[in-house]
Amino acid sequence: MVNIRVEDLIKDYKVGDITVRALNGVSLDIKESSFISIAGPSGSGKTTLLNIIGCLDKSTNGDLFFNDKNITGYDDNRLTSFRNDNIGFIFQDFNLIPVLTVYENVEFPLCINPKFKGNHKKNVEEILKMVGIFELKDRLPKELSGGQKQRVAIARALIKKPLIVLADEPTANLDSDNAKNVMEIMKQMNRDLKTTFLFSTHDKLVMDFAEKIIHLRDGKIVEEN
Ligand SMILES: Nc1ncnc2c1ncn2[C@@H]1O[C@H](COP(=O)(O)OP(=O)(O)OP(=O)(O)O)[C@@H](O)[C@H]1O
Ligand SMILES: [Mg+2]
Repeated sequence: MVNIRVEDLIKDYKVGDITVRALNGVSLDIKESSFISIAGPSGSGKTTLLNIIGCLDKSTNGDLFFNDKNITGYDDNRLTSFRNDNIGFIFQDFNLIPVLTVYENVEFPLCINPKFKGNHKKNVEEILKMVGIFELKDRLPKELSGGQKQRVAIARALIKKPLIVLADEPTANLDSDNAKNVMEIMKQMNRDLKTTFLFSTHDKLVMDFAEKIIHLRDGKIVEEN
């Protein structure tokens, strides 16, 4: 389990001669086993914030702590290895590998990380059962519905038992029934595995699942409730 803290995050993007300030002093405490939504209009900084907490990108200024360890100064290699060990991702467009089966997609993160040598069958089958897609394990992504694909992505994000799963608009490509279903599974994983989930959304239905909603506007937190 993990406590995450960000302090005074600033993120500037340079576009030609112009500097775009995507985050403008964001401070945030994410307690262990949280289930938190980031909401806000397009361009408010949701993806930028998720990417920095997920160690996919670095802030221009400010600090990022995992369990009081300040990882802000980590170089790219150390950050990559920290990310690979501790953070899971779920993407809006699922990002499954089309030529791999459901089982192989979920196993994939273990295959590319030398820390997980040996036989993965038990772990993979267990997580497939938890998210309710064990029967689909030999199918290819193109043989699945959107909701089923996103469940594969959830299983893949959880297979390494990460401290935190970050999901950038995980339901944006799903109809409302599938969106609800995917949120219910994420919530159940949060309860059962104590994994922290931090997700962004525009969708009120999705926000209603969160125990806390962080509202961003112009790179600042304007409300937390
Ligand atoms: N790589 C980049 N280069 C330049 N500007 C960027 C880059 N990424 C994001 N921005 C800018 O930073 C601001 C925040 O973008 P971000 O993608 O975090 O918003 P968002 O809240 O996720 O929006 P959306 O709801 O549309 O996904 C925007 O003004 C955007 O144009
Ligand atoms: Mg975004």
